[in-house]
Amino acid sequence: MEERKIVTSVLVYGYDELPEAYKMLVDAAKAATRNSYAPYSKFNVGAAVLLSNGEVVSGTNQENAAYPSGMCAERVAMFYANSRYPDVAPKALAIATFAGGDFLEEPITPCGACRQVLLESEIRYGVDMDVLLYGTRGVYVVKSVKALLPLAFDKGALR
Ligand code: THU
Repeated sequence: MEERKIVTSVLVYGYDELPEAYKMLVDAAKAATRNSYAPYSKFNVGAAVLLSNGEVVSGTNQENAAYPSGMCAERVAMFYANSRYPDVAPKALAIATFAGGDFLEEPITPCGACRQVLLESEIRYGVDMDVLLYGTRGVYVVKSVKALLPLAFDKGALR
């Protein structure tokens, strides 16, 4: 038996320390929370994707009375970006959550299903994506979706 350790890394930035393009991306994710449809959880999530052509595409969580039919903000944003610009690589994705009357202090991290979808995009375009998780006390930056999803299932297994 051998133990294989998997190490991951998260950079924690103050909002003011972010490069301008990333401040704008976080701002877009925050603004998107206003368009969230979350009457059941009242957990308003916004996601914004920065594409390599400079476009920013945002999305929000979309809930449903039949709960599993809803969709997280990250997947709405990424699927929309990939549909609208199928030939343009996403460079970064930012997420923000507004709940209980304010933006959350601590960032939320994408659910497992969203990580799988984000990974597919990263592999599809062959470009590592920065994932920015906004909290009022700091912005977590992860330099690749792979860092969020160790031991991932990907197309390599389907060969
Ligand atoms: N949600 C997201 O949109 N993104 C996440 O990363 C976690 C959860 C949504 C799903 C649901 O509408 C609400 O937040 C509560 O789980």
